[in-house]
Amino acid sequence: MNVENLKKEIKEEIESSKNPNELNDVRIKYIGKKGIITELNSKIKDIPNDEKKEYGMKVNEVRTYFNTLFSNKNKKFEEEKLNEKLRKEKIDITMPATEIALGAPSILEKLIEDVEEVCMSMGYDVIDGPEVELDKYNFEMLNLPKGHPARDAQDTFYFDESEEHLLRSQTSPVQVRTMLEGKGEKKVRMICPGKTYRRDDDDATHSHQFTQIEGLVVDKNISLTDLKGTVEVIVRHLFGDDVEVRFRPSYYPFTEPSVEIDISCFNCGGKGCSICKESGWITVCGAGIVHPNVLKMSGYDPKVWSGFAFGFGAERLAMLKYGIDDCRVFYNNDLRESKEFDRVD
Ligand code: DAH
Repeated sequence: MNVENLKKEIKEEIESSKNPNELNDVRIKYIGKKGIITELNSKIKDIPNDEKKEYGMKVNEVRTYFNTLFSNKNKKFEEEKLNEKLRKEKIDITMPATEIALGAPSILEKLIEDVEEVCMSMGYDVIDGPEVELDKYNFEMLNLPKGHPARDAQDTFYFDESEEHLLRSQTSPVQVRTMLEGKGEKKVRMICPGKTYRRDDDDATHSHQFTQIEGLVVDKNISLTDLKGTVEVIVRHLFGDDVEVRFRPSYYPFTEPSVEIDISCFNCGGKGCSICKESGWITVCGAGIVHPNVLKMSGYDPKVWSGFAFGFGAERLAMLKYGIDDCRVFYNNDLRESKEFDRVD
């Protein structure tokens, strides 16, 4: 047995095999059942005893040599196979992604945020109140005792026979809650936008749920001029710098005096058009000087403290600002409608 020659042949054949099949043929030729190395191994029994050891070592050397070369080559083929697979299955991450349809901000929320922004710039806090309210806060402590006729217009949904728990019919109870927290000592300057509820069986232009933006200031020497200046800043922020504000006398149980606030029509400048119903003015808000009883009931001494309060209808403001003529748009959740108004500033 010429070990060196055998090794040379093995090397040549393994190196020249071009694919796993050819390599397999080489394997069979050398270490298969009737392979060259297998045969050499089985011949060991015919070798005289004193040569057996040396012979065995030679066969082993050749077999180890073969195994090493074979497994290296085999590994190479497997790597190539894997690389080929990876190449074929490569994901092209530069492909444009599937577009996900984007929503649009709720136009009502946008309006509310707009008012919050301008009020915060004047030092107002933005406060939340519960929608399930106590009769005490929604009516009684706002100077609307049980049986008061002004309650009729604000009939709402009740949770118990005693009618103690109800869905708030206005955001005004947040005034009471805030003053109670102030304990008759702290100045108040807050707005509280939020949902309100009322029974709506009488006409088609109202909805059982709507949104108010309430405001309250409690401080020293507050007068109607403070209210006027504040409302002017808010409506001019929403509708433009040329808008004028006027007060008309009104009635609310929790303010005295009470006013209805009109703005000059931002559309026609006061000449009269379809938006202002030819009057040149649009009513946007109820307001007034906080009634002394209300201050007193919430722990503020009316001889020391005074305040103003206002309540905007958020839907109305949004309808005016964005030229919307149907308030159901706000609740339909129709993306096409939201997108329509997304283009407006
Ligand atoms: N809460 C009143 C309503 O729902 C609106 C209102 C009027 C709020 C005058 C006020 C106010 O704070 O001072 O009709």
